[in-house]
Amino acid sequence: MTANRSTATAQGKINLHLAVGDVRPDGYHELTTVFQAVDLTERVTIEYVGDADSSGIRSLTVSGFDAHLVPTDSSNLAWRAVEAIQKLDGAHTGGQSVSIHIDKGVPVAGGMAGGSADAAAALLAASDLFFRDNPADAPDMNTLMSIAAELGADVPFCLHGGTALGTGKGENLVPVMTSGTYHWAIATDKRGLSTPSVFAQLDKQREAAAAGQRPNRRTGTPDALMLALRSGDPHQLAEHLSNDLQAPAISLLPSLRQTLQAAREAGALAAIVSGSGPTVAMLCTDHDHAVDVATAVSVSGTASATLTTSTPGPAAGVEK
Ligand code: C5P
Repeated sequence: MTANRSTATAQGKINLHLAVGDVRPDGYHELTTVFQAVDLTERVTIEYVGDADSSGIRSLTVSGFDAHLVPTDSSNLAWRAVEAIQKLDGAHTGGQSVSIHIDKGVPVAGGMAGGSADAAAALLAASDLFFRDNPADAPDMNTLMSIAAELGADVPFCLHGGTALGTGKGENLVPVMTSGTYHWAIATDKRGLSTPSVFAQLDKQREAAAAGQRPNRRTGTPDALMLALRSGDPHQLAEHLSNDLQAPAISLLPSLRQTLQAAREAGALAAIVSGSGPTVAMLCTDHDHAVDVATAVSVSGTASATLTTSTPGPAAGVEK
């Protein structure tokens, strides 16, 4: 950290349980979800770059994993997060514009909340930079959480970190007690999936189920999963992973079926589409097992796989 810049980090997530309810008037679906932050990190740096121009943000640049796929204009959530902090009472930019730099560790459009993690890290870095002369006026965690919920459904969890139960559109969070560390191999897919399309596909599938044209399968309550998380035993956790968005994600990207199959053949304890996909999270017993599973899935040619672990929480989400 230097006087004219601030850096913060936030992590991507896996949904261990994702039960999707009805669509609401605002277009969002009611969720009951258990998020787990994993140690794939987004690092956001905000720096003063000279006289203010009209937007207050001079540029946004991106490095790291799949950087070329990330928008570098005001459609980027980190840009909007910085704007939101600039507008708060008491924010001082010293008459200067800023540049934003994102260094990415989370797959883009993968269902792991990489963009939301950028927004969370940007909220903290911008609060630090713009309230450096008057820290007592800086937004508190509750204020940051409300701004986060307006930016996107996963942004509050990215501020929170750890493992948490999310309800509403995902923004009402309660920490979940966990033991131990969970080891994941992560199979990424360069094609990406659009989150609104996956939710829309679920709605279509549910209409077909209501008309008796396909089975009506819905994820139940997360109680058993939450008990398993307390055990620290990945074998128990493996029994209870569940995601209502998996079937619609597969119908939009059928090759996910092969990736899930490759994960099972590679000996993963369980494999699940993460959030709206297309990243597949494969639960393993320990680090060495995760290396073996990631290698086997990569060699199978269905996807390229990497490693990650759960991160402790709560409140390990965003850090300066
Ligand atoms: O909030 P965010 O921009 O991340 O959400 C992206 C899209 O995902 C929403 O516009 C909506 O289509 C869908 N979504 C949903 N219900 C949720 C979360 C997201 O329908 N609880």
